[in-house]
Amino acid sequence: MLQASYPYYLANEAEAPNQDLAVYDKYSGEVATRVALADADAIDRAIAAADAAAEPMRKLPAHKRQSILNHCVTRFQERFEELAQALCIEAGKPIKDARGEVTRLIDTFRIAAEEAVRIGGEVIPMDISPRAEGYTGMWKRVPIGPCSFISPFNFPLNLAAHKVAPAIAAGCPFVLKPASLTPIGALIIGEVLAETDLPKGAFSILPCRRDGADLFTTDERLKLLSFTGSPEVGWDLKARAGKKPVVLELGGNAACIVDEGSDIDDAVARIVFGAYYQSGQSCISVQRIMVHESLYDAVRDKLTAAVKNLKSGDPKDEETFIGPMISEKEASRLHGWVEDAVAKGANLLCGGQRNGAMLQATLLENVPADTDVNCQEAFGPVAILSRFSDFNAALKEVNNSDFGLQAGIFTRDIYKIQKAWDELEVGGVVIGDVPSWRVDHMPYGGVKDSGLGREGVRYAIEDMTELRLLVIRDPN
Ligand code: SIN
Repeated sequence: MLQASYPYYLANEAEAPNQDLAVYDKYSGEVATRVALADADAIDRAIAAADAAAEPMRKLPAHKRQSILNHCVTRFQERFEELAQALCIEAGKPIKDARGEVTRLIDTFRIAAEEAVRIGGEVIPMDISPRAEGYTGMWKRVPIGPCSFISPFNFPLNLAAHKVAPAIAAGCPFVLKPASLTPIGALIIGEVLAETDLPKGAFSILPCRRDGADLFTTDERLKLLSFTGSPEVGWDLKARAGKKPVVLELGGNAACIVDEGSDIDDAVARIVFGAYYQSGQSCISVQRIMVHESLYDAVRDKLTAAVKNLKSGDPKDEETFIGPMISEKEASRLHGWVEDAVAKGANLLCGGQRNGAMLQATLLENVPADTDVNCQEAFGPVAILSRFSDFNAALKEVNNSDFGLQAGIFTRDIYKIQKAWDELEVGGVVIGDVPSWRVDHMPYGGVKDSGLGREGVRYAIEDMTELRLLVIRDPN
């Protein structure tokens, strides 16, 4: 269902000076299509066009920004299956997960359409002391200007949408570099945006090689850098971004606590989903599962049985739950971590075998604390089990990580919920479910090595706008 080739979008126009980027079907390993690849000159022209579009974008009325976003919602609905099939091929995402992502893409644009007409401000009482009598203050939000976006391979549509849709709602032009492994989703977004009346230069979507992409980070005409991807790359970009603010949505080794008294079948079903959907390639995939000792054996046995039962294979097959990882290199990296943990004494409950980019859904217990599979971000279909007796100690163990994106807790105890919300060093705590749960309007982002700032349309709009104060003195 993919076209034979795709252009990139430079200043709203499709251009195809070459077809230098091959995009592979991640399951078959065959070339699925080819894409035009932007060089430094194209990126420079795109940034100049975005710079020139800053004023017309700032002046674009809210109802027009809303209509443009609503046009996208309609077109994505019409092209739903094409988008899902594209994700399935370019990311190796099981077709059911791919359809789930398209649903979320539509949600993200719909939320942005709603937010576009409610970017307001505030009136501030100024007469806080005699010298300020007769003054009135108010602030409004103004677009920050041209934005630089870099989006990852694991949600090629929706994590690009989390940057693009708020930018349009806020009135910011942008240049987007989609992941070179999975550029098609973003390019179809570009095709739809090119149907709209966005001012010339408002958007460019440019697949390019990482080593030619420095301008996305360093160019001073760009007023915000928003990056989603690996912690290693993200923190390096921040160091090189100059004066512009930076939003980083990075990774984690998310934890999930199953406390005493939990419904085991419910917790197991949710953990299977949270740890293994789209082969664990989500920043909030369940990696560390901590189970109260009273439930440990039962959870371990039921979880192991459920994970062994997951159907792996061709992501185009409606029944497939585990597809390939994004590349053989990534699968081999994580397989090595599993083998290392087992060599150091971990017990392999299931999985552990690899064939090319296909890594089996893997569950481990008794994993030594200093192993990569515990401390680093697995970003694949691997989870580890441990037991606890004291809830407070389990909370400390959740915090015993360089990362802090989201945590999930199965408990019905309101005081434990309150304690977890107070104590956990994460961007979000999910009660009664896995950390992997997200809807697209909620504030989403991390602390510690997991990042800076929040996405979730309204919160991204805050980053893409600046407060501008107005003070009025009444001389009478
Ligand atoms: C991520 O992997 O960073 C995002 C997860 C999600 O949107 O569900």
